[in-house]
Amino acid sequence: MTAATGSAALEELFAAAKEAQAKAYAPYSRFRVGAALRSDTGRIHAGCNVENAAYPVGTCAEAGAIAAMILAGDHAIAEIVVLGEGPELCTPCGACRQRLREFAKASLTVHVAGPEGLRARFTLGELLPHSFGPDNLA
Ligand code: THU
Repeated sequence: MTAATGSAALEELFAAAKEAQAKAYAPYSRFRVGAALRSDTGRIHAGCNVENAAYPVGTCAEAGAIAAMILAGDHAIAEIVVLGEGPELCTPCGACRQRLREFAKASLTVHVAGPEGLRARFTLGELLPHSFGPDNLA
């Protein structure tokens, strides 16, 4: 799918993702990622990837944004921008798709961006079909 042209709210989310990307700690992969989500309260929460010399311990940008959201007291993701480097689409990794699922419906719009702007958008349902989520344990 192609990227939506920006509403002011989406521009704001993109800007927050770009600001977060600039703070990424990625000395090993040198692949900096920023994520910014808008929660259902309208607030923006952002995160960046934080790598570690013990490689598997590193965390993704989406995980940071979700942690910031929970710390702020919000619990539902309304929209998210994930911004990476390089020519390929920086779609959320498999683990982050599941992390997003915990706090979002299948209809969540996931915008994928590069430094120059939005590149594509998907629903979470497209990225993680037939998912297992909180409803399974209700
Ligand atoms: N990365 C993210 O932050 N989010 C993703 O969804 C894809 C991958 C990070 C993890 C690692 O620090 C770097 O990108 C290279 O994989």
